[in-house]
Amino acid sequence: MCGIVGYIGNRDCLGLIIDGLKRLEYRGYDSAGVAILNEDGEINIFKKKGKVKELESQFDFKKLKGHTGIGHTRWATHGEPNDINAHPQSDMTGNISLVHNGIIENFKTLKRKLENEGYTFTSDTDTEVLANLIQYHFKQKNDFELAVRLALTEVEGTYGLAVMNRSEPDKIIIARMGSPLMFGLGKDEIIVSSDAAAIINITKNVIYLEDGEMAVIKFDGFKIKTIKDEEIYREVMKLDYDLEEIEKSGFDHYMLKEICEQPEAIQNTYRGRINFGNGEVKLGGIESVKDDIINARKIIIIACGTAWHAGLLGEYMLEEYCRIPTEVEYASEFRYRNPIIEKGDVVLVISQSGETADTMAALKEAKRLGAVTVGIVNSVGSSIAREVDAGTYIHAGPEIGVASTKAFTCQLMSLILITLMIGKSKGTISEKELKEITEEIKVLPDKMKEIINKRNDYKFIAEEFKDSRNFLYLGRGFNFPVALEGALKLKEISYIHAEGYPAAEMKHGPIALIDENMPVVFIAPKDKTYDKIISNIEEIKARKGKIITIATQDDNEINNYSDYILRVPKTHPILSPILNSIPLQFLSYYIATARGCNVDQPRNLAKSVTVE
Ligand code: F6R
Repeated sequence: MCGIVGYIGNRDCLGLIIDGLKRLEYRGYDSAGVAILNEDGEINIFKKKGKVKELESQFDFKKLKGHTGIGHTRWATHGEPNDINAHPQSDMTGNISLVHNGIIENFKTLKRKLENEGYTFTSDTDTEVLANLIQYHFKQKNDFELAVRLALTEVEGTYGLAVMNRSEPDKIIIARMGSPLMFGLGKDEIIVSSDAAAIINITKNVIYLEDGEMAVIKFDGFKIKTIKDEEIYREVMKLDYDLEEIEKSGFDHYMLKEICEQPEAIQNTYRGRINFGNGEVKLGGIESVKDDIINARKIIIIACGTAWHAGLLGEYMLEEYCRIPTEVEYASEFRYRNPIIEKGDVVLVISQSGETADTMAALKEAKRLGAVTVGIVNSVGSSIAREVDAGTYIHAGPEIGVASTKAFTCQLMSLILITLMIGKSKGTISEKELKEITEEIKVLPDKMKEIINKRNDYKFIAEEFKDSRNFLYLGRGFNFPVALEGALKLKEISYIHAEGYPAAEMKHGPIALIDENMPVVFIAPKDKTYDKIISNIEEIKARKGKIITIATQDDNEINNYSDYILRVPKTHPILSPILNSIPLQFLSYYIATARGCNVDQPRNLAKSVTVE
C-alpha cells in the first residue's frame, strides 16, 4: 500500500521524485505529495487529493529547487483521501516532514499523550501523530536520529517511513517495520523507495532494510542501525530487471501488456528447470529443502487473492499427482485460528509482490510453529522471499497492473514444476504421463500466443455484456480455481458483481439467480469433466441464462450449447488452467475498458497490500 520516494544527491530532486511516484502509483493513488528542502533551508510541502498528475497540475513546481526531498502516493487507511490527510505530514511546528506506509495501531494513545503536552493536529492521520512524536523527542534531545529512534520505540504497528528535519537538513532518516523500504546507491546520490520501480532508472545497486531497522541517509553515505541502536552491515544487492520491463511498450494499459507477455513469462518460469530428456525438474532455490517437501506429511499453501486461487489449484495438483495431503489457507485466516502444524509439515507461501502483510504474518506464524517454509514469489529480494527457508522465483517480470495476470499463470507453472518434481521422486506420477506433460510444456507458449493473437474476438462479446450487472463463472476440477479467478478479475476491474462456483454446486443455491439476463461463463475443456459440464450447461440453458463457453479448439459438440464460444488449443489437463485463464483475463479487460474503467488502477485497490 502507498508508495514512498526520497532523494538526496547532487541533482534537483523534484522531477526525480515525481517520476518515481508515478511509477509507484499502482501501489496506491488516492492522494500524493512531496516535501522539498529548498535553497533557503525551508521545507516546502505540496500535496493534493487524486493522482500524481493532479498534484503536478496544481502547483508551479518548476520554480522549486532542492537536492533533498521525500514524496508519497497514498492508499488511505486512517482518514479519508483529501488534501489535508495526504502525505507528507508535518508536526505542528513544521520542523518535521514525514511520509509513511502502514498503520500506527496505538496512534490514539500517542495522540492523547501529545495533546496533554500541548500538541495540536490538523489531519485525521496516524502519520501526523508520529511526526509530532518525533518533534516531541527532538525538542528534548536535540538529536534527530535519537528522536526518530525514541519515537519508534513507542510505536505499535507497521511502518515504512522517510522523514526530514528542517533543523538537521543534511539527512533523510528511513525506518521499516512490516512495510517494505529500500534505497539505491547512485553516483553522488541516494534514492529511497518502498519499491524498486522508483529506483531502477537511477541505479540497480540497492540495499533492503529489514524489519526493526532504520538508516540515516546523507549526501555522502549512509549508516544502518536497528531501532535498538545496534550497527548493521548489509550487502548491496543487484536488481535483476530493466526499466523497459516496467514500462508499457506501446500497449494501452499495463494489464494488456502483461496478459500479452504471458508466453514469454511462462517460458522464464520453466526455462532451465526441466530436463526434457528424462522429465526431471530441478528448482535450485528449493534444493536444500527438496527432501522435506518430497517427504512432507502435509503441505499447507498460504496466500491471498489471486495467489490463493493459484494455491487452490496447487492443492488439486499435489493431491492428484503426489498423493500428499494438501490444504490451502487464506493467510489472513491462518494466523488467527491456532493452526495445527506438526513435524514434517511444509508450508508453501505464494505471493507476487512478496510484501503482502497477511501472507508475511502467516509465514512468520508457520515458522514459529516449526514448519519448513517455501516461497513461490515474483519480486526478487522482497520480504517474503527473504523470510522463507527456501524458495523458487516465478520470474514473471515486474507486474504493474493492479489486477494480477501473468503472475497467476506463472504461479501455476511453478506449482506444476513442484508437482512434477515431487511426483517423479516419489514415483506417484507415471513416466508416460510425465513425458506427455513436459512435451506439452514445450509447446505451451505457442498455444498461449494463439489465444493472444485472437484477442480482438473478445471485444465483441465484451460489448454485448458490458452492461450486465452480474456474472457467474463455473468450472470443475482443475478449472474450478480458474472460475474463481475469472470472477475476481471481472469484479476488480469492471465493478460488475461476479461469482465463481464449482459447476455442480450451482444447483445448491446459485441456480435461483438464473434468468435471461444472467451471463454464465463455463470453462468446458474436453477432459474427464466434459460430460458433467455439458449437463450443468443444460441446466442453465433450460432457465434461459446466456452461455459463454471456454472450449477446446476442435470441440464441435459445444456449439449446440453455447451462445458465445472462446476457443483454446487442446493441452494436457494439468496445463489447461493456464490456457483457460487467458480468455477470461481478456474478457474482463475488454468489458472494463468498454465501461470506461481504469483497469490499471481500479478504485479502492492497491497492488501490494502491505497493511493487514
Ligand atoms: C488480484 C490481485 C490480488 C493479489 C493479492 C495477493 O488481481 O492481484 O488478489 O493476488 O493481493 O498479492 P500478492 O500475490 O502480492 O501476495
